[in-house]
Amino acid sequence: MATEDSYLLKVAEIVRETADAVSVVFEVPSGESATFDFKPGQFLTLGVPSDQTGLVARAYSICTPPGDGLAVTVKRTAEGYASNWINDNLKAGDTLRVLPPSGIFTPKSLDTDLLLLAGGSGVTPIMSIARHALEHGEGRITVFYANRDENSVIFAEKLRELAAANPERLQVIHWLESVQGLPTAEQLKAFLAQYDGWTSFCCGPAPFMKMVQTALKELEVPRERRHQEKFISLGGNPFGDVEEVLAAQATIAEADDAENAEGAPEDEPAVAGPVAVEVELDGEQFSFVDWDGRQHLLDFLESKGVNAPFSCREGECSACACMILEGDLSMTRNDVLEKEDLEDGIRLSCQARALTEKVRVTYNG
Ligand code: FES
Repeated sequence: MATEDSYLLKVAEIVRETADAVSVVFEVPSGESATFDFKPGQFLTLGVPSDQTGLVARAYSICTPPGDGLAVTVKRTAEGYASNWINDNLKAGDTLRVLPPSGIFTPKSLDTDLLLLAGGSGVTPIMSIARHALEHGEGRITVFYANRDENSVIFAEKLRELAAANPERLQVIHWLESVQGLPTAEQLKAFLAQYDGWTSFCCGPAPFMKMVQTALKELEVPRERRHQEKFISLGGNPFGDVEEVLAAQATIAEADDAENAEGAPEDEPAVAGPVAVEVELDGEQFSFVDWDGRQHLLDFLESKGVNAPFSCREGECSACACMILEGDLSMTRNDVLEKEDLEDGIRLSCQARALTEKVRVTYNG
């Protein structure tokens, strides 16, 4: 069933959510259920067939809560090849290449009060988090959900049901551009100001997320209570032959080294090994003492048979993110983590090289 690190999953059902969005429900073979365990808010990377390139890789957030099946929701975008192909062609019984769940947009505690902010199809991971927290947590939850108009509201019925079943804990607030216009910065700030002490998760179009983050910063909400999902557009092909990908990366690494030698390093010079590295992953501990710290951490771990998560391998998603517990790591390329993520010790292991002779990281963040 598995091809390298990807798996062929059968589509059990396609659920039409709106005129522009479908949920794709997957059948997970019983032998792979541990591989496809996920945390609420995580995403799957799908390999969508393409005449030109064979497969294009696209990441879509999981809409179901853990324990209630595995489904992603895909909204058609104007120029999006993969989202249109899924909406127009995919049907029950088809199979797709899929990478295991990954991502760090997931609450650490289900018992805190959660302010979940969604724009358009950004509601997908929000739905997974809300349903899971309602079932397993004790905090209050507010979902603020902005859409163009009533017809573009995904999960309208489900949200109504959840709110009716949990009146003490869940409040759903819809914002329709067709009725209220786009929310202004002042309106958002006034709304968010009511949720002092809550932990926020925000997913939606980039301008929406930016406005929310700016307002939260102005309200001095600390970093650990502000989370946002990044839009993921994968340039690389994680479904390609792994040997080929590694060979291509070795060439890139050599080019990087040459650049560094000329004194124009993208990242800081790495330790030329041997580096001692300890890794926590899925409840297991691994330790090695022979990492040439110039090699990317993900490549090194794979060479040791460690199944570390990844998707794009190019620093464009966060599938491979780990957190530094000891030592330090630089990155060759980073298109996704922000300054605050770096300050928190988060690094992309597909791009990470050692800056110290001992490094300890966890993937269990
Ligand atoms: Fe995408 Fe590392 S695998 S950033």
